[in-house]
Amino acid sequence: MEFYRAHVLVCGGSPCVAAGCRAVRDEIIRSVAEAGIAREVRVIETGCLGPCDSGPVMVVYPEGTVYSHVTVGDAREIVDEHLVKGRPVDRLRHKGEIPAISKDADRRSHYFDIQKRIVLANVGIIDPDSIDEYIARDGYLAAGTALTQMTPAQVIETLKKSGLRGRGGAAFPTGLKLEFTARASADQKYIICNADEGEPGTFKDRLILEGDPHRVIEGMIIMGYATGATRGFIYIRGEYYASIQRVERGIQQAREMGLLGNDIFGSGFGFDIEVKQGAGAYVCGEETALIESMEGKRGEPRVKPPYPGTSGLWGKPTVVNNVETIANIAPIVANGPDWFRQFGTASSPGTKVYTLTGNVNNKGLIEVPMGITLRQVIYEVGGGIPGGRRFKMAQTGGTAGGCLSEAHLDIPMDYESLQQAGSALGSGALLIIDDSHCVVDVAATLLHFFEHESCGQCTPCREGTHRLSQIVGKIQHLQASESDIRLARELAGMMRSSSLCALGQSVSVPLFTIFDHFSDEILAHLEGRCPAGVC
Ligand SMILES: Cc1cc2nc3c(=O)[nH]c(=O)nc-3n(C[C@H](O)[C@H](O)[C@H](O)COP(=O)(O)O)c2cc1C
Ligand code: SF4
Ligand code: FES
Repeated sequence: MEFYRAHVLVCGGSPCVAAGCRAVRDEIIRSVAEAGIAREVRVIETGCLGPCDSGPVMVVYPEGTVYSHVTVGDAREIVDEHLVKGRPVDRLRHKGEIPAISKDADRRSHYFDIQKRIVLANVGIIDPDSIDEYIARDGYLAAGTALTQMTPAQVIETLKKSGLRGRGGAAFPTGLKLEFTARASADQKYIICNADEGEPGTFKDRLILEGDPHRVIEGMIIMGYATGATRGFIYIRGEYYASIQRVERGIQQAREMGLLGNDIFGSGFGFDIEVKQGAGAYVCGEETALIESMEGKRGEPRVKPPYPGTSGLWGKPTVVNNVETIANIAPIVANGPDWFRQFGTASSPGTKVYTLTGNVNNKGLIEVPMGITLRQVIYEVGGGIPGGRRFKMAQTGGTAGGCLSEAHLDIPMDYESLQQAGSALGSGALLIIDDSHCVVDVAATLLHFFEHESCGQCTPCREGTHRLSQIVGKIQHLQASESDIRLARELAGMMRSSSLCALGQSVSVPLFTIFDHFSDEILAHLEGRCPAGVC
């Protein structure tokens, strides 16, 4: 066994890959070898470390010193100064707070106490390409326990008791969903992991998969056992090349260890997984459109019912769950439902992974308990609004989520509280907007997105998104009147009740919250002025 005096963890999440982390990693490996310390220093590529807009990011342990915006030239300096001479390079230290994993003693603050990592427990810590590192963190123990010591009904009961609800948008209780499929009798059942993630500003599922693919594979094995499904699919956007590669490597490693395939853990249960690549349409994240796309057809949503739980892929009972939902399953089975219920609120137990973006100091990937307030997320985890500007709006839940104002800063971030405010947790995107932006401009961007992504199958959504986009454009050009607002409300309300899928149904969510929570600003536009000076 090798012992190392220092570990260098270079973030290999896709935002850092785009920022050039692979060249930095290679330079560190080269410099470490040249300095003759290759047997003392281990360089590992990990998943996302958190501050994704500051890449390439890396951490040097045991100190836990975090470096960001590291260039190839800096890499050599870090090796010469920090790893050879033991002097951390202050110039390159990350200036903001680091989500979760940093043990940088000088920088530890309340910020770390608010975060709780269940889903991201291994992300940024282990080498995601190494099944051994996952196993060293008790990986596959939950699958082993479930398959050898629990009945499928006990697994489902555990998940039901935990109160875990879907993290992909609709918040459906996960245990109940598995139970529907477990009860269906069929010669073949399927598990699908929905890793489509096509909403702008949403990248949590991608970083979960890239940072800890075995966690998702393990969750799917448990789901297969619980429901009697023997085949699983991970549906990933074709553009997410790093995720696809990492997941495929993980599947291969699990197969080689006998954790996928026949007779897993000698239990008699067999399960295997393959990756399906999506072609990149937002609507293909909708579960029935995803199934159509997997069947080789146009990605258009189906009429529900029947639901996939009883009639899904190729007409067979199919469970479709979000990546983050699935990543919660192994920890719940390993630690029990009461452990899970310690975090979050009574009706929204556990944590939530967000991608925190926009006008906030600490942007990136975070995981916090359900129920902490929007103010805490923005000011404590996010480090506040840059440039001394004022907070204006937070869009929770991605494009189809609601827009909250200053009056909602103390709202707990959980399913019920956000629903009461007309919003949702949705996809986990959390967009923070300061007072230099105009809410009508935001609405116009959102409407343009919906218009572009509507699959066109049903008239209310196809025509409605187009008309709404025109009306919001009119408000933006300071040419609208009260009757246009009334018409927009009528149209969006009609789309909510008559559209075939949640894309058309949810256009009203951001639109109505903007109309309701920012009515002064809308009124100003009707009077011919844009208070933010944008339109
Ligand atoms: C237009 C549209 C896009 C969606 N995109 C996604 C997605 O990318 N990932 C996801 O998990 N769920 C997405 N959903 C929700 C899925 O239909 C489904 O509810 C979810 O995958 C169920 O998993 P969960 O119970 O774990 O949340 C989308 C829904 C709609 C209407
Ligand atoms: S609501 Fe929109 S996206 Fe959904 S099926 Fe109808 S046209 Fe397609
Ligand atoms: S991808 Fe590198 S910090 Fe998130």
